[in-house]
Amino acid sequence: MKKLLALVLVLSFIMSMGLATALADDSIQVGIVLPTKDEPRWIQDETRFSTILDQAGFTYQVLFSQGNVATEKSNVETLVSKGMKVLIICPHDATAVQSTVEYAHQEGVTVISYDRLINDTTAIDYVVGFDSESVGVAQGQYLIDQAEGTGNPLYLYAGAMTDENAFIFFNGAWKVLQPKIADGTFRIINSKAAIAVQDKPELTREELAAILGEITNNWDFNVQKSKAEADLTVAPASDKGTVYILAPNDGTARAAADVFATDRDVEKYFITGQDAEVASIQYIIEGKQSMTVLKDTRYLTDAAVAMAKEILDGAEVTTNAIYNNNAAEIPMNQLQVISVTQDSVKADIIESGYYEASQFTGLE
Ligand code: GAL
Repeated sequence: MKKLLALVLVLSFIMSMGLATALADDSIQVGIVLPTKDEPRWIQDETRFSTILDQAGFTYQVLFSQGNVATEKSNVETLVSKGMKVLIICPHDATAVQSTVEYAHQEGVTVISYDRLINDTTAIDYVVGFDSESVGVAQGQYLIDQAEGTGNPLYLYAGAMTDENAFIFFNGAWKVLQPKIADGTFRIINSKAAIAVQDKPELTREELAAILGEITNNWDFNVQKSKAEADLTVAPASDKGTVYILAPNDGTARAAADVFATDRDVEKYFITGQDAEVASIQYIIEGKQSMTVLKDTRYLTDAAVAMAKEILDGAEVTTNAIYNNNAAEIPMNQLQVISVTQDSVKADIIESGYYEASQFTGLE
């Protein structure tokens, strides 16, 4: 009987150890939630996160929200249930995510808003991101630098209205483009709301929302394609010729470029982009996309992981800016962007080690 009891005790000890190990195996220190797998941009971030978090020796999990608010929430709940200490989150929907991060924060998680901003909540501890206004400025300035004479047709597009960055990108572009619209260099073709305020250097949130409401592509290639087709169907030949297109990111730039390229009245187009996606670097090499804005995801993920490490170690967190999200002043680590054109693609993308030359054809 004693022997049996001893056996039972030993067995139950082994089982509880096993359970403890199972729990420990499942638990994570850092949780990462990204908006969608459907845009190459976020796959780049995931790949990079996995590499450096493995190297740093953290337990972590990366989840995608697939453009769905409910999935975003359940992703965060899953990570909280696994004991996550630091959440690095790039929201699909900047408003809907507020209650989700508030929940994580209440559970004692330190929340880092990653790349995209989260406004109107005090549940954000830090922000890691690029200088988004400078992205829009770089896009607008590129178009200005290509323009000659006056009356140049300007087609405007913007990202998703659920993404706070989309407003900031457009606002940055407007800052530089507006004086060049006011002086006659450009003519806005495809937005009545933008034409209505074309004399205003500074736009209110309502004015920006009215413009984005007309020109948003929702970060979706198909929406962008349809909008470009619709705009070109309506536009007379006199609004074509050499055209200037503000496209907010690479995926949608390629979608728009493909449409403009096939219009027989469009002789030449200049089009902006953002993210330095592999497919867009190939387009730039071939002259099908004019520029992109490189937001080096190596630096972004490095900065986010370094921040997570500082938090987990209880060390002082490195920041270099403050972001006011309408509810609090949030310490931010802000990174700089680089404009890439056909002339600079080799130096900025290949020689910098961002991508391998073998991923492209036609590089000189
Ligand atoms: C933005 C992000 C961009 C771009 C876009 C589409 O928030 O800053 O780099 O990827 O989303 O997903």
